[in-house]
Amino acid sequence: MHVAVFAFPFGCHALALINLVQKLARAAQETQFSFLNTEKSNNSIFSASIASLPDNIKTYNVADGVPQSHVFSGDPIERVELFIKETPKNFKMALETAVAETGQEISCLIADAFLSFSGSIAECLSIPWIPVWIPVPHSLSTHIYTDMIRQHYANSLGYGCSNSCGDGHDVELEEKTLEIPGLSELHIADFACRDTLVVNFYQELYPEPLLNDLKSKFSNLLNVGFISLSMPPPSLPPSTEDTTGCLSWLDSQKSKTVAYISFGTVVNIPRSEMEELAEALEESRIPFLWSLRENVRDCLPNGFLERTIMHGKVVPWAPQTQVLAHSSTGVFMTHCGANSVYESIANGVPMICRPFFADNKLNARLVADVWRIGERIDGGVFTKTGVARSLDLILQHEQGKKNSEQSPSH
Ligand SMILES: *[C@@H]1O[C@H](CO)[C@@H](O)[C@H](O)[C@H]1NC(C)=O
Repeated sequence: MHVAVFAFPFGCHALALINLVQKLARAAQETQFSFLNTEKSNNSIFSASIASLPDNIKTYNVADGVPQSHVFSGDPIERVELFIKETPKNFKMALETAVAETGQEISCLIADAFLSFSGSIAECLSIPWIPVWIPVPHSLSTHIYTDMIRQHYANSLGYGCSNSCGDGHDVELEEKTLEIPGLSELHIADFACRDTLVVNFYQELYPEPLLNDLKSKFSNLLNVGFISLSMPPPSLPPSTEDTTGCLSWLDSQKSKTVAYISFGTVVNIPRSEMEELAEALEESRIPFLWSLRENVRDCLPNGFLERTIMHGKVVPWAPQTQVLAHSSTGVFMTHCGANSVYESIANGVPMICRPFFADNKLNARLVADVWRIGERIDGGVFTKTGVARSLDLILQHEQGKKNSEQSPSH
């Protein structure tokens, strides 16, 4: 048996998929797995958390479609578009290499559901095709019902503006998320209503109508839980083993007092918002651990790092799952990528959401309004007063919970 796996090399997609493949490879040791991904994404997922792969997984590079000496505009979608233009040619080439190297024809294709062209590759090869849906399943519905939603918007301008946003602003935003440049070229709806779909979610977390509807569309809906997480979360390693210093710094803080801040690897926060956020952290003196890429550090106010050294720590990368599992962490300020949200849920850490793009807005809505395990940032964007207010609200609530746990008589 030779299973080929096609990764979507952006956001947390590839990391989730390699985690699933590792579990499969350990369970099916006679099976050969070929994991096809771009070099950039391959490097980042292996530096993130994977120590060593089982012997029956081999990784193969797929061209990322970026022309030599290409100058990027800074828009994270650009990479996605270049990559999509290169599909399916790049995957077909890597597939040939995998077959040649292993001497085994492909017998099954597992693919990130965003790569809907993989369905026709499987069809050509007459092999089973198993798409994997990485974002929350709620967003799957928006793809299945795209036409209906478009029609609805066309028929009822002003929908969604019942509260404060009478200017139609929200409608515009919602439409944008339906037609994300690049992603719209993926024809995600193409794969809907087939047989099997693997979903990065727990059956128990669905609203019942959604579960029933998806079950009626996919005869084999496999909810495999949060793929990239072990549940329950594993116990923390000794802090001295963490070379980033995050865990030992957290050791020196009080229980549930620290704001952990990270917006993933893709999002670029506008400079003005970075400044507001930094000023709020500095003035509120709330302990914070900020995972901030080296190349955006110069957006911080002059002297910020020095002035906050007593109550804050800024690192280029943090072992996020472990940080969230640490007892000092009281709140997670996040862009609400699915993986970050799942890691926060797994560790019971409430969130402050500042969604930026793709599925972020939908996830933030689930966190704040449906699951009620966090708040949207006060005012929608980072402002000095909004950040301070949101942090106070959640951290005081956490402290209250802690106190009542400690003294149940009160
Ligand atoms: C993927 O990354 C790992 C770790 O950096 C490396 O060992 C492996 O050779 C890479 N695979 C490819 C195909 O580049």
